[in-house]
Amino acid sequence: MNHLNNKNARGSALTTLLGGIVILLAVLFFLVKLATSGYYSDVEQSTQSATETRIMPVGNVTMGDGTPVGQRTGEQIFNKICIQCHAADSVVPNSPKVTHNGEWAPRIAQGFDTLFNHALNGFNAMPAKGGAADLTDDELKRAIVYMTNQSGGNFEAPAVGAADAAASDASGADAAAAPVAAGSADGKKVFEGLCMACHSADSAIPFSPKITHNADWTTRLKQGKATLVKHAIEGYTGPDGGVMPPKGGNANLTDAEIEAAVVYMANQSGGNLK
Ligand code: HEC
Ligand code: HEC
Repeated sequence: MNHLNNKNARGSALTTLLGGIVILLAVLFFLVKLATSGYYSDVEQSTQSATETRIMPVGNVTMGDGTPVGQRTGEQIFNKICIQCHAADSVVPNSPKVTHNGEWAPRIAQGFDTLFNHALNGFNAMPAKGGAADLTDDELKRAIVYMTNQSGGNFEAPAVGAADAAASDASGADAAAAPVAAGSADGKKVFEGLCMACHSADSAIPFSPKITHNADWTTRLKQGKATLVKHAIEGYTGPDGGVMPPKGGNANLTDAEIEAAVVYMANQSGGNLK
C-alpha cells in the first residue's frame, strides 16, 4: 500500500516538475523577446507623463472625463473625488471642509509635506489618495493645493503638463495665487485670509489672543511691536503651551505682510502700533 502510494506520489511530482520546466522556458522565451524588442530602450528618453502612464494602475486610464492621467487639474480632481468628503457642506465627521479656514488652519500649519503625506498614505478616516488610486503625486498635490488655498492656505501647485506649463498651469496658478498679493501688506486682508482662523473674536483655538478682546492683548502688547512681529514670523509657544505657528502656517507670506497683520490685529484690540 505504502509502496504504491509513494510511486504515485513520485509520478505526479515528476509531472509537476516537467510542467514547471515547460512554463519556465516559456517565460524565459517571452522575457528574451521583450528585452530585445526595444520596449525598454525608449524609457529613458520618455516624458514624465509617459512614465506615469506606464506605472499607473491598470484600468484607470482616465477619470471618466477624457483627461489623461497625470494631466488633471486640482479642480477636476477635487470636484470628482475630494468633494465627496471635503465639500463645504459635507457631513463627513472630522473632515476639514473647503473654505472653512478654521478647520484648515491647524492642518495647514503642519506644512505642505505633512498634508501631502497624510493624503498620499491615508490618515485616520482620510483614505489614501481619497480612494482614487490612479492619482499621480502631482495630481494629488494639485488637489490639496486647490482645496487648501480656498481655505486660508497659500501653496504652489505643480504645473499641469510639462511642455505647456505656463498656459495649462492656469487653474493651479490661480488656486495658488496668494490671497494677498506679495508685498501689498494689507494687514486686514492677511488677517482675514489666515490669522482669523485662530484669532477671530469667536475663535475656539486655546490661548490665541482674540481680535477685539483687549484683555487678551494687554500683556502681549507690553512686549512691544518688534517682539510681537518676531513671534508671529518665527512662531511662538506661550507659557501655557499655546502654539502660534511661524507666519500662521503660511511660509509664503512676506515679513511685511505678517507685520501688517499684527498691527491690524493689535490695533483692533487696544493697541496703537504704527
Ligand atoms: C471618504 C472621505 C474622504 C475623501 C474621498 C477624501 N478625504 Fe481627505 N480627509 C477625510 C477625513 C475624514 C479627513 C480628516 C482625517 C483626520 O484628521 O482624522 C481628511 C483629511 C484630509 C487632509 C488633511 C490631512 C492632515 O494632515 O490634517 C488632506 C490634505 C486631505 N484630506 C486631502 C484630500 C484630497 C486631496 C482628497 C481627494 C483626492 C481627499 N482628501 C478625499 C476624508 C476624505
Ligand atoms: C493655527 C492657529 C493660528 C494661526 C493661523 C495664527 N495664529 Fe497667531 N497665535 C496662535 C496662538 C495659539 C497664539 C498664542 C500663543 C501663546 O502665547 O500661547 C498666537 C499668538 C500670536 C501673537 C502674539 C505673540 C506674543 O508674543 O504674545 C501674534 C502677534 C500672532 N499670533 C499673530 C498672528 C498673525 C499675524 C497671524 C496670521 C498671519 C496668526 N497669528 C495666525 C495661533 C495662530
